[in-house]
Amino acid sequence: MVDEPQKQDFTGFSQTVIDHARNPRNVGTIPNPDGYASAVGSCGDIMEMWLRIKGDRIQNIAFSTTGCGPTVAALSFVTELAKGKTIAEARVITPEYVLDALGGLPEENIECAVLSVAVLRGAVGDYLAFKNQPWKRMYRQQG
Ligand code: FES
Repeated sequence: MVDEPQKQDFTGFSQTVIDHARNPRNVGTIPNPDGYASAVGSCGDIMEMWLRIKGDRIQNIAFSTTGCGPTVAALSFVTELAKGKTIAEARVITPEYVLDALGGLPEENIECAVLSVAVLRGAVGDYLAFKNQPWKRMYRQQG
């Protein structure tokens, strides 16, 4: 689920934030993903991310959130950044880079960008944890 950031006031935000918040990329889910993670912000909002990995590369990526417009923008931006990258390349995406590329965020929204990167790293970590033993993922899903 992604709320309707169109109704939010984006005065003072960069064009990149406004663009990604109003037209978020990669919203949705991926069934039977190769990597998945979720995070909950201190505000209580939830972020989820799904990965499809092919040959050590992020072939597809999707997110969902109950979060604010800046969170939608950060997640959309992060998914665009990570798509097509190798696992190693995705792991070095930093919150600082994302914040900078988004043109900065107000203090109260810094965590939104930090968690967007954290959930990507979590999903990559989830993929790596089951990479060599995918049967364990099935076992976990049933358990
Ligand atoms: S996700 Fe709750 S304030 Fe951004």
